[in-house]
Amino acid sequence: MYKLIKKDGDAKRGEFHTVHGVIQTPVFMNVGTAAAIKGAVSTEDLEGIGTQVELSNTYHLHVRPGDQVVKKMGGLHKFMSWNKPILTDSGGFQVFSLAGLRKIKEEGVCFNSHIDGRKIFMGPEESMQIQSNLASTIAMAFDECPPSLADRKYVQNSVDRTVRWLKRCKTEMDRLNSLEDTINKNQLLFGINQGAIFEDIRIEHAKQITELDLPGYAIGGLAVGESHEEMYRIIEAVVPYLPVEKPTYLMGVGTPANILEAVDRGVDFFDCVYPSRNGRHGHVYTNHGKLNLFNAKYELDDRPIEEGCQCPACRRYSRSYIRHLLKAKEMLGMRLCVLHNLYFYNHMMEEIREAIEQGRYKEYKRQKLDGMEAGE
Ligand code: GUN
Ligand code: ZN
Repeated sequence: MYKLIKKDGDAKRGEFHTVHGVIQTPVFMNVGTAAAIKGAVSTEDLEGIGTQVELSNTYHLHVRPGDQVVKKMGGLHKFMSWNKPILTDSGGFQVFSLAGLRKIKEEGVCFNSHIDGRKIFMGPEESMQIQSNLASTIAMAFDECPPSLADRKYVQNSVDRTVRWLKRCKTEMDRLNSLEDTINKNQLLFGINQGAIFEDIRIEHAKQITELDLPGYAIGGLAVGESHEEMYRIIEAVVPYLPVEKPTYLMGVGTPANILEAVDRGVDFFDCVYPSRNGRHGHVYTNHGKLNLFNAKYELDDRPIEEGCQCPACRRYSRSYIRHLLKAKEMLGMRLCVLHNLYFYNHMMEEIREAIEQGRYKEYKRQKLDGMEAGE
């Protein structure tokens, strides 16, 4: 399913073939947690800004509108009118970061819904059943992301359980994919590497999960409070133990610089809320660093956010106008900033793919980083 087209150093240029189409990698997946990209961005908008994969969340969609509703509506693709690949995160991470009181047991996790406080149980089987109902292209394994300050003993116990959970995920997904009324019988399962900042635990865990021969592997539990250098060190330690002929997905990362560095270390898939979250606050990415459009210096600035940018905001509107919209709390202001930011990320991935193909990735990365660090 994954075809490695070219390697430039450790950077990989590939293609991931799915029933919902081909994903050109490296790729940035656009985050639509509750089956919507925040900032009033439609799936038609996504098609116009070069989005290849949309990412949604098992936990959020289970709580509202309910995965049974989505299943009855024909699955997530039909429900949100998006026919390209969709990846769903398993709910593990969200349970740990969002839910209030929770209890982790061998069977799974008991927690309270962040919407109405109602008690919910989710384990590997439940997560796979929900993701099968959502009928995403790629389902993520149900994992525990240990707290960043957890000690070695806690982390070792946690990853041991995550391995057992992964085996249960695989068994359940195989069963669900064989059922008559399953919408996507070709749903793919990606495993997730954990182990906090302990390299040896991470490597041992990577060896165990790769034995299951899954179609892809993620590196989870990063960008949760450790330094960027520590994160790069962990990626460098783990990537050699993940199959080069399969995609590697760095979950929840990150800034443009983080992505440039991780691609250089062999990562293929990314996702992050930064472009949409920052856009909603008027913070926009450019090749000369991030701008805060609320700043008074843009009041009479008739330039687009980024000269030459082909996004729907830059093709028509000035910084001055978008600043006015933001200050007047007009929804359009937020929307234009989110569209620009998602376009910026998607377009950067396109540049990255081209640079790898042409064997000049290091040079491209240096130039891009220098530009963004120099500022306006
Ligand atoms: N998103 C960001 N980090 C993680 C992680 O460690 N696990 C899961 N399931 N999702 C994530
Ligand atoms: Zn733009």
